[in-house]
Amino acid sequence: MASTKITITQPDDWHLHLRDEEALSTTVPHSAKHFGRAIVMPNLDPPIVSAQAALRYRERIIAKIPPNSNFQPLMTLYLTDNMEPSEVSNVKESAHIMGIKYYPAGATTNSDSGVTGIAEVYTLIEKMALLGVPLLVHGEVTDPNVDIFDRERIFVETILSPLTERYPELKIILEHITTKDAVDFVKNQSKNIAATITIHHLLYNRNDMFFKGIKPHLYCLPVLKRDTHQRALIDAALSGNPKFFLGTDSAPHCQSEKESSCGCAGIYSSPAALELYSEFFDSHNKLDKLEGFASFFGADFYGLPRNDKQVTLEKMKWRMAKDFSFGDQLIIPIHAGQDLQWQITRA
Ligand code: NCD
Ligand code: ZN
Repeated sequence: MASTKITITQPDDWHLHLRDEEALSTTVPHSAKHFGRAIVMPNLDPPIVSAQAALRYRERIIAKIPPNSNFQPLMTLYLTDNMEPSEVSNVKESAHIMGIKYYPAGATTNSDSGVTGIAEVYTLIEKMALLGVPLLVHGEVTDPNVDIFDRERIFVETILSPLTERYPELKIILEHITTKDAVDFVKNQSKNIAATITIHHLLYNRNDMFFKGIKPHLYCLPVLKRDTHQRALIDAALSGNPKFFLGTDSAPHCQSEKESSCGCAGIYSSPAALELYSEFFDSHNKLDKLEGFASFFGADFYGLPRNDKQVTLEKMKWRMAKDFSFGDQLIIPIHAGQDLQWQITRA
């Protein structure tokens, strides 16, 4: 009989946007409820470009962690063309900062200060490779002549592949992968290259974004791809290959900015993320592969201990809220108002 209850080591989220200020009152408790740790993205406005700023941001996050939670935010810096090389050493020396995030300039939300060309940051990347500081990558080219559905594939071919050859020692996490091309690339690389996979790229493909009308709450970057790519991601997540692990890319934007004539990219999944990943593994009869993907492989890749705590999940229906308050606005979560099959009954 299929299991209806499972206890696993507490999972971590290896790619998360928490935003800042009053948004933290909503986002931090949602992640802190179930996840032990999360890698927090630095794409604030202005971005987090120094270790000092990252540590201050960490304090603002910690102030919003509910008292009964063991949640730990793990910080990242935002790579720019003119980052001081001493910041790479600062990251290496800090127990709270895990890596540096590479956004191609203009690729996504708050990426205007991103890297304008990979060669601009070779010196910094060389130092990262030398010191063992991981590079987290938003893998999309920004050339407006490249079709939006091809941006990840072309990034892998023209930027990432040469980068791994140039710096074989560099630890790289290709974030929120969306294509078979990225899956195949990561699989064929050394143990220094890994990837995170979101729940939305496992559950949806681009048809869902246009089903009976345009669905702004399914618009994210990298954009959902066709079903053959979704299938490759599903196979990678279920495979038990430790190169692929959980990263929600939960990316909150208020309702009015999503439901707009120029809606912004990002899906707010943290209120239901662990439950939906469980439902996903269960629907493929692979619940036995959930713990590796959600709780082991990310920690192992980053060289951190696995969590001690355990969480219990049970197959029991519950309904996701229609919205949450978000400062003086509202935010619409993934599966808003819909039934979910799994609950966390002991965290
Ligand atoms: C993210 C955001 O809103 O910060 N949006 C998204 O669609 N994923 C940025 C990112 O991770 O690309
Ligand atoms: Zn992201």
